[in-house]
Amino acid sequence: MIQIKNVLVLLESEDKGFKLQRTDIFIKNGKIVSLGKAPEDFFAEKIIDGTRKLAMPGLVNAHTHSYMTVFRNCADDRSFEDWLFKYIMPLEDKLVAEDAYWGSLLAMIEMIKTGTTCFTDMHMHINQVPKAAVETGIRAVITRGLAGETLADGGQRRLDEAFSEINNWKGEENISFMLAPHAPYSCGKEYLKVIAQMAKENDLGINIHLSESLFEVESAKENFGMTPIEYVDSLGLFENRTVAAHCVNLSENDFNILKEKNVSVATNPASNMKLGNGFAPVAELLKRGINVCLGTDGAASNNSLNMFREMGFLGLIHKGTAKDPLPVSAADCIKAATANGAKAAGLSEKIGKIEAGMDADIILIDMDTPAFNPFNSSISALVYSAGGYEVDTVMVKGKILMEGRILTTIDEEKVYYKVNEIAKRLGIGENL
Ligand code: NI
Repeated sequence: MIQIKNVLVLLESEDKGFKLQRTDIFIKNGKIVSLGKAPEDFFAEKIIDGTRKLAMPGLVNAHTHSYMTVFRNCADDRSFEDWLFKYIMPLEDKLVAEDAYWGSLLAMIEMIKTGTTCFTDMHMHINQVPKAAVETGIRAVITRGLAGETLADGGQRRLDEAFSEINNWKGEENISFMLAPHAPYSCGKEYLKVIAQMAKENDLGINIHLSESLFEVESAKENFGMTPIEYVDSLGLFENRTVAAHCVNLSENDFNILKEKNVSVATNPASNMKLGNGFAPVAELLKRGINVCLGTDGAASNNSLNMFREMGFLGLIHKGTAKDPLPVSAADCIKAATANGAKAAGLSEKIGKIEAGMDADIILIDMDTPAFNPFNSSISALVYSAGGYEVDTVMVKGKILMEGRILTTIDEEKVYYKVNEIAKRLGIGENL
């Protein structure tokens, strides 16, 4: 049982924004049992002084590829085609399963240190990310990337792997799953239909990249006579709860489909900027009541997994590109990084808010830091001035993963050593 005493808590307000309230948080068996008043029979085994701290729900990274941290900073300032075909894809071929384990541990170090408590991951090497997540205690939505023109062309094998991974880890309470057709251009038509059907039969959500580049949209129109969104909708994919990453180029009909089918859009501003793809029309998506969540994408295309940086980008780019400071507010950014991400992951009953009955996925932010001073607006500070390194304490389901900025479940030094060995083996590591 943990009591966080006298802490400033970020709560949703009636106007759909946020408010701050100073109170105590009581945590028992991994859940928030009460705010303000101690429940009867509550005996705090640990008391955390929250006097100079802000408590908020742990951030939810709605789209990443955690193992890709091993490719961080190795192919920048190149054309998209060079980046993907000359660098990233040949490197992917050289990776072995264990590399994905160490890469995802590196991702978890970065995520925990910058306040992320849950992430949706698309990967290629099964069992490595859930293994690292269970050891670490972070919450993860695991999705094995599915690609193939037909079932015979590796499609069935990858689908079998996805289900074998689900069976191996489904007993873990912090791990959940979705099926992840990589994209409409990397999966054949029949394959996408099978995946849509399998998702339905097994009550699994869908995690997919959609309409990331103009080239993708033009090719879909040429090949299928439809936009990527119209195309996957026609195959029944959106009959399942879906998170669509990117959605940069949308037609009027695309907006209507996303809204009607309740699709969540995971926007990844840094990745879209780095690869020169533009931005998702977030203001318009919000206006139409579409669930917008926030992701970092992988470290090969970002190059950071810091959700504070991502919230900052989200808040600023739409002001800059619309030449209007109003379209996306600080509260919109916080919501995208918390409750909306939880909803996209199918976890809104458990996480995304600080409320009695929710799991205790909470981060404490040190307010004795420049970004939060003077105390003019902590909500603005979270989006426009914080860097992520103000995060002091992180807990997932009441288990402390970082306290006083010290990680409690990961041996950082060992992970740095291992990932540098991998980078050297891949021929991308600097010889320092
Ligand atoms: Ni991605």
